[in-house]
Amino acid sequence: MATETSSRSSVKPLPRSGILLRSSLITIFGIISALTFQSIVKPPPPKLCGSPGGPPITAPRIKLRDGRNLAYKEHGVPREKARRKVIFIHGSNCCRHDAIYATLLSPDLVEELGVYIVSFDRPGYGESDPDPNRTPKSLALDIEELADQLSLGSKFYVIGYSMGGQATWGCVKYIPHRLAGVTLVAPVVNYWWKSLPSNVSNEGFNLQPKRDQWAVRVAHYAPWLMYWWNTQKWFPGSSVASGDYSILSQSDKDIILKLGSSRKPYWDEVMPQGKHESVNRDAIVGFGSWEFDPVELEDPFLNGNGSVHLWQGDEDMLVPVTMQRYIAEKLPWVQYHEVAGSGHFLHFAEGMVDDVVKTLLSTDA
Ligand SMILES: *[C@@H]1O[C@H](CO)[C@@H](O)[C@H](O)[C@H]1NC(C)=O
Ligand SMILES: *[C@@H]1O[C@H](CO)[C@@H](O)[C@H](O)[C@H]1NC(C)=O
Repeated sequence: MATETSSRSSVKPLPRSGILLRSSLITIFGIISALTFQSIVKPPPPKLCGSPGGPPITAPRIKLRDGRNLAYKEHGVPREKARRKVIFIHGSNCCRHDAIYATLLSPDLVEELGVYIVSFDRPGYGESDPDPNRTPKSLALDIEELADQLSLGSKFYVIGYSMGGQATWGCVKYIPHRLAGVTLVAPVVNYWWKSLPSNVSNEGFNLQPKRDQWAVRVAHYAPWLMYWWNTQKWFPGSSVASGDYSILSQSDKDIILKLGSSRKPYWDEVMPQGKHESVNRDAIVGFGSWEFDPVELEDPFLNGNGSVHLWQGDEDMLVPVTMQRYIAEKLPWVQYHEVAGSGHFLHFAEGMVDDVVKTLLSTDA
């Protein structure tokens, strides 16, 4: 009892100035940690091409409706002579140089079909300005503007690969009247598309390595944390963003090993403006909340005035084949081509690109 009283009395009440000092210290500490947190979490501003200290502008570019520049690259027969015009949409960690459905197309087929292909840097990649407001819709409108500024005519084909799927589905939804035909190759599926049954999306999600499950969750639930997530060193960030290929199928690993650095001699030109508005933004858009659900899209070609194709390797470890099968079944107007023994890099198989392009272009609008 005595001890208690004495110990209690030994705690001197803080003078008023002490309380004030303590609360202001707490406030200051709070402000400093908030600022530090902000500076860690907030991505550095992208280094715009052509800005002082930024990467140079080397590609032709068009100016879009909101003042952004979009860089492009032309392939195949000259635009004026072309009988068929295609816009190619690249995947994550890629740029206009990765126009695989142009560069791997046989020259004979290019002539025979009279095909012109234009690839472009998706916003934030290569020499295209970033678009922090990017959505599947804004991408579709970028594509329409590219077609119009290059005078591709009232209709054109689109081919979209992997993360380019967000723009390709966007085209089907928002600019169907401009399309002559559509091909999606291993398009990334969003686990949060509303009409995917939860058992189908859970199964696909659980096939992903833990690190990618987390990255995809961050992209969906806390996109503001995405930059930090993919730069911090405590947990492994997304394998795509960190260029980790260990998760790929054996067929994909073999391709990477065989091609080595010849696969991307232009690697420095892929993300010269930084990773946030390119590869991180891809995930934020790709796994975000969409205002439409591809699984509920209507056939854009009711008259048979075009066709939609979806190609998918059954050993793709990045995009689960089970989910793609579900989507193909729900959309009977999508012609589904499953390639046995192929992974995410299916286009490197002999003759594959010719097949994909010929299949699309053989249905004339
Ligand atoms: C194809 O034909 C249908 C039905 O006439 C039409 O509604 C649609 O706009 C056409 N699609 C294209 C891409 O022209
Ligand atoms: C999901 O559930 C439905 C209905 O219960 C079932 O028919 C289907 O096979 C299941 N799919 C998967 C991938 O588990």
